[in-house]
Amino acid sequence: MHLWGPTQPVDDLLDLYVVDRDPVDGRPWVLANMVGGLDGSAAVGGRVGALSDETDAVLFRSLRAVADVVVVGAETARRERYGPVRLTDDLVASRVAAGLPPTPPIAIVSRSLRLDWDMPLFAAPEAADAPRPIIVTCAAADPAALERAEAVADVVVAGEAEVEPGAALATLRERFDAKVGLCEGGPTLLGQVAAAGLLDELCLTISPVLGGDPLPVSVTPAGADLTRMELAHVAEAHGSLYLRYVRAAP
Ligand SMILES: NC(=O)c1ccc[n+]([C@@H]2O[C@H](COP(=O)([O-])OP(=O)(O)OC[C@H]3O[C@@H](n4cnc5c(N)ncnc54)[C@H](OP(=O)(O)O)[C@@H]3O)[C@@H](O)[C@H]2O)c1
Repeated sequence: MHLWGPTQPVDDLLDLYVVDRDPVDGRPWVLANMVGGLDGSAAVGGRVGALSDETDAVLFRSLRAVADVVVVGAETARRERYGPVRLTDDLVASRVAAGLPPTPPIAIVSRSLRLDWDMPLFAAPEAADAPRPIIVTCAAADPAALERAEAVADVVVAGEAEVEPGAALATLRERFDAKVGLCEGGPTLLGQVAAAGLLDELCLTISPVLGGDPLPVSVTPAGADLTRMELAHVAEAHGSLYLRYVRAAP
């Protein structure tokens, strides 16, 4: 047992997260980035904002720079009114220097395709230079809604009655050359990804509050196996803990 304590200052929190990540078995490496309260709640009043402080918000925005695609559940996209990824000039420059596009696309997972086509991701005129969004859906999706989606996004159909996470990730790897996928939740989507054995890394901020919505950081489908993780780092800023876990070796 170790007592974790203040050991060394960190100039830039993001530096702790810049590590090599390679595709796994024909799919991107999947890391998730989430924030939860001390009791594990993932939202307050249906939004994540009250759990996050400025340091966490900077990490949230910056971590997108390590991704080839940012994957998010439709409910999160609806509630948080998703827009295209915006990175600082420095992060854009380092991506371009590494041969990557300036910013990664956002991929929304949805069966219903009940999306607000006016949300900034689809509608913002300044998004003209952003990569085309991706919508990941299933064969059971309404054909008219599918047609609407195709007008504003690249569409991936992965699964019959619902999106099959493994098939979706394999398609993101093959069609969009995604080596690293960043899952920004929400808890329902993350639970499915983890239950399917597809979560390689979890970046979890623990925020020093109790309360909020009865929605845990990950909603595991009934009967799923445990996913065992190993601690890679702990950092602290302003009372929040920044934890990085990677999948434990089998
Ligand atoms: N604390 C955090 O870090 C964090 C991060 C993200 C979000 N949040 C919060 O979490 C809440 C939203 O999370 P949530 O768990 O309710 O929803 P979610 O995971 O964001 O989205 C769920 C939706 O995604 C689609 N979906 C998920 N899995 C699917 C599958 N296998 N096949 C087809 N579609 C699938 C469905 O969309 P359709 O309904 O369109 O079919 C489903 O209703 C919000 O309050 C948000 O603020 C917190």
